[in-house]
Amino acid sequence: MVAALKAGYRHIDCAAAYGNEAEVGAAIAESLAAGVCTRADLFITSKLWVTSCSEPALIREALEKTLANLKLDYLNLYLVHWPFFIKPGASFPPPVSDCLGYSAESYLATWRELEAAVDAGKLRHIGCSNMTVAKLTALCAPGRARIQPAVNQVESHPFLPQAPLLAFCAARGILLQAFSPLGSPARPARLITEGDPAPLAEPAVIAAAAKHGVSPAQVLIRWQVQRGVVVLPKSTTPERIAANLDVFRFALDEADLAALAKLAEGEGCKRTNKGSTFVQNLPGGWRDAWDGEYIN
Ligand code: A2P
Repeated sequence: MVAALKAGYRHIDCAAAYGNEAEVGAAIAESLAAGVCTRADLFITSKLWVTSCSEPALIREALEKTLANLKLDYLNLYLVHWPFFIKPGASFPPPVSDCLGYSAESYLATWRELEAAVDAGKLRHIGCSNMTVAKLTALCAPGRARIQPAVNQVESHPFLPQAPLLAFCAARGILLQAFSPLGSPARPARLITEGDPAPLAEPAVIAAAAKHGVSPAQVLIRWQVQRGVVVLPKSTTPERIAANLDVFRFALDEADLAALAKLAEGEGCKRTNKGSTFVQNLPGGWRDAWDGEYIN
């Protein structure tokens, strides 16, 4: 974290579920004290975990805990981590009996609490994660969300460009944010399925990198920047952290973009994070989770 702030990053994407907000908070405090940046320079996001979504008191408690851990009095952005809620206190991964699933009404009730936290000055913006066009449409319908979502954070890389969702969000002023932009190569075993895409090892990505004298990761990050998607590469390696920000001295050209566009063609699921854990209660499992949007 300290290396990232020193390298020039100002947008920090946290979540209670990552289990490291106290460490991130300490790093932010250290960097502010050292004059690396000011609080006003930073854009700090966190996410409400699925076991805290279904009761107003739990939502308030979760936000207070995140603020305390991060040593902040407000967040720039707070996201509902997944639209599929899980019973409070459930173990993780949850047993099927603890999967509450998605309901537009439950999601709206959670959203009302986040709106109240905006009114109270604890949140500057609120947003969603892992939402589809259908679910966003329900949330944003007249008479429903009073404060529109600022962001929808979803998995995206050239195998999963999320083109229809990006167009929908752009038309409504919702920023799309990309998690796992490198294909999450070190993800946990439970998220690995045979045939999953591996963007960093993809020949078209490697060829574009060689052509521009950059790394495959820089190609994947630059690709999102050029499409107006907020990109969230994760690294614990200081050299990679610095390199992943150094994507503003080259541009992918039409030929590169055409080669990358081919990666999304064809059938098959291109998601590495299918959400299976959260939707064990749905008859079709993860395929029922995405309202048909699991390809691209
Ligand atoms: P590390 O933390 O060891 O640097 P994603 O953002 O898609 O979830 O991917 C994160 C993973 O990608 C981490 O395991 C991270 O490893 C690795 N990673 C981050 N930056 C690079 C890079 N520039 N080149 C190769 N791998 C990278």
